[in-house]
Amino acid sequence: MHANPPLTRRIPPELTARTIRRHVFWAAAITALGGLLFGYDTGVVSGALLFLHVDFGKLSSFDKELVTSLLLVGAMVGAFFAGKIADKVGRRPTVLMTSVLFMAGVIGAALSPNLMSLVVMRFVIGVAVGSASMVVPLYIGEAAPPQIRGALVSFNQLAITSGILTAYLVDYGLSYTQNWRLMFGLATIPAAALFVGMLFQHESPHWLISQGREEEARAVLHRVRASTDIEAEIIEVRELSKKKTTAKDLFNPAVRGMLTVGVLLAVFQQVTGINTIIYYAPTLLHGAGLGNSAALLANVANGVVNVGMTIVAIRLIDRVGRRPLLLGGTTGMAVSLVVLALAFVVGGSHLTGATAIIAIIALLVYTGSFAIGLGPTFWLLISEIYPVGIRGQAMSVATVANWGANFIVTISFLTLLGTIHGSGTFLLFAFLTIVALVYFQRRVPETKNRSLQEIERDLFRSKSSTAARPK
Ligand code: BGC
Repeated sequence: MHANPPLTRRIPPELTARTIRRHVFWAAAITALGGLLFGYDTGVVSGALLFLHVDFGKLSSFDKELVTSLLLVGAMVGAFFAGKIADKVGRRPTVLMTSVLFMAGVIGAALSPNLMSLVVMRFVIGVAVGSASMVVPLYIGEAAPPQIRGALVSFNQLAITSGILTAYLVDYGLSYTQNWRLMFGLATIPAAALFVGMLFQHESPHWLISQGREEEARAVLHRVRASTDIEAEIIEVRELSKKKTTAKDLFNPAVRGMLTVGVLLAVFQQVTGINTIIYYAPTLLHGAGLGNSAALLANVANGVVNVGMTIVAIRLIDRVGRRPLLLGGTTGMAVSLVVLALAFVVGGSHLTGATAIIAIIALLVYTGSFAIGLGPTFWLLISEIYPVGIRGQAMSVATVANWGANFIVTISFLTLLGTIHGSGTFLLFAFLTIVALVYFQRRVPETKNRSLQEIERDLFRSKSSTAARPK
């Protein structure tokens, strides 16, 4: 399972630019199936929860919370170990192991004889989700040429949002059968496709170089780069990975600055509230006075906007850069959150007429702004800003922070709504979004159009963390 396909052992003949693009595109598309599973498995539970009682009898709120949130705890564990594993055994075996774990988890969940086994299986799926969430951008980022790296890594975010939307539609389509087992079990298809597709992919060239396996790296690079670029890239990555790095290096002053940027991007991506909308929008809208079908429809519209604006981001991210999208998107989130909060202030806890319409529009603008900014840029930037020798482990730290913050926001949201209501809750998110905006403006670097080696040299040239300042 860990051996590369034979092609990597010999250098293929010079390929046309089109063929090169096709290879890179397929490498990104296949690996992004991991993102699809991330989105599907996090999104599917809201619908499945409604029907668990058919097999397991009445469930308490605590039972439901366990089924939902153990995935997030599993994801923290998965993200924690995946970076170390990816640095040690390679990116490709890590993706293969992750897909096996996905298959085991979703089949186990679908066949669960009792609630306890379902909870355990949700944890197992979570471990796979956490691992996929960091290793997919890592792998794509190292395989992609600099000019289109932003778009290709953001395929992962497109896959996440498509997975969430598919989950909503599957839940809706299967709701009349009450078949929650099938809702979970359908994820076996992309998990198997990820495994099979990955068997035909090659190891990341940068990882191979960092292990001294330059012949294999050269063969892989010949499939994904113009031949004129290859030798310089090998020399650069070799130089950069000469310095043997250990986990302790995560805390040396140069890396620490960027580690903080990655962790804060991760935390801000969650504490600005996206998953309260992704996981709870129907509950929120229904509770705010909308009928069941209107709430479901608004939810699907929200999923469509999420996918649509991610496509817009993919088209723009290598042209206008990461910072303009991040700053513009975060501003849109802040404005829409304030409007949402005001709708609750004016309309009280039951929105009708104009306030209901304003709230729905604000929700859609909020999701669209996230999808064009903080959604894709977070995952992209953490795949770009770390030195090759500890890239996996540094990404792990940021990814664990992301899942940890997600867990905390998810379990506290309903309590927040109960105590400080819609108005207070969304004002709090708006405030945190403004803090995030100020931080991003001051600290997040632009990485557009530069190779990972150039970024590494620029950010880590001086020992001081001030090297992390935006250009
Ligand atoms: C976030 C997820 C979120 C998703 C929504 C991702 O970038 O990490 O937590 O559910 O975007 O589209």
